[in-house]
Amino acid sequence: MAVGIYFATTTGKTEDIAERLHSFLPSAEAPKDLADVSDLLEFTSYEGIICGIPTWNTGADSERSGTAWDSMLEEIGELNLNGTKVALFGLGDSSTYTENFCDAMEELHSYFVKSGAEMVGYVSKSNYTFEESKSLIGDLFCGLPLDEDSESDMTDERLENWCNQLKKEIPSL
Ligand SMILES: Cc1cc2nc3c(=O)[nH]c(=O)nc-3n(C[C@H](O)[C@H](O)[C@H](O)COP(=O)(O)O)c2cc1C
Repeated sequence: MAVGIYFATTTGKTEDIAERLHSFLPSAEAPKDLADVSDLLEFTSYEGIICGIPTWNTGADSERSGTAWDSMLEEIGELNLNGTKVALFGLGDSSTYTENFCDAMEELHSYFVKSGAEMVGYVSKSNYTFEESKSLIGDLFCGLPLDEDSESDMTDERLENWCNQLKKEIPSL
């Protein structure tokens, strides 16, 4: 079974990361812009999906991404993704937005949990410098945070390590 990569973006950084991720995971399908997806039922056709989400609405309780994900959250929660593995990556800025680093990942995570998906791709917070993030579960982020604004020099290593982790967690990768 296939693995899909989905992203939504405002200034293009999450799309760029989705393409770079795909180069580390060539057996996954080419990344798709969520804005072009008309029926989320297509998520159910995959063994696994990898979803990228930036944070724009700083400190917001809901609709934190400011992208197409925001209007799809309820619908994601209503899908039946039992048996589907889902991994998230988030784009943010740990320096300027250090109290809300990659907050949108947690919101998307909560709706995928509602759908029954098996969440994978959690990452230790130990190699990040920030004040607060809603995307922490204990000492783990609920996905891979990436910071193209302040720590872009760390992105390749973070991506590579995460892809090696995902290859163990999603067998068809
Ligand atoms: C007005 C504004 C608000 C932002 N708010 C946050 C935030 O709350 N948390 C965070 O981690 N990053 C925040 N960012 C940084 C963006 O998430 C980051 O630049 C991201 O890479 C943008 O991704 P995109 O190009 O795919 O839209 C903000 C950036 C701007 C300009």
